[in-house]
Amino acid sequence: MIAIGCDHGGYELKLEVVKHLEEKGVQFIDCGCNGEAVDYPDVAEATCKKVLSGECDKAILICGTGIGISMAANKIKGMRAALCGDWYSAKYTRLHNDANALCMGGRVIGAGLACEIVDVFLETEFEGGRHARRVEKITKLEEN
Ligand code: RB5
Repeated sequence: MIAIGCDHGGYELKLEVVKHLEEKGVQFIDCGCNGEAVDYPDVAEATCKKVLSGECDKAILICGTGIGISMAANKIKGMRAALCGDWYSAKYTRLHNDANALCMGGRVIGAGLACEIVDVFLETEFEGGRHARRVEKITKLEEN
């Protein structure tokens, strides 16, 4: 189960990603917005809560650049949000960082690339091993 959220800057791209998820049969919860002007930290909070509660496995967050919403998500304890504009980053943030949120910029990338990024992000498993130690160190930074 995937939680997906956007602000007004990411709304058009979210519609494309939602259509893609539906076509692939991926279940998701749409946490808004519906095109109206909203503040991206509020959407980040509402969407990430679904992951932290265990209701969803991962989040997809979209704003105009992907930057604001990723900054907000990464302030939330337990979230590892990765802003991706390419396929390689999406793959390796899963393999090495165990990212639990994918952030994209709706005014930056097109729907075709975004959907490929979504696919690789959702299909790639965390590699563990030495990377688990590093991810644990990220978690420890939350305590300081
Ligand atoms: C909204 O206009 C825009 O600032 C927002 O979508 C995002 O790009 C912020 O980082």
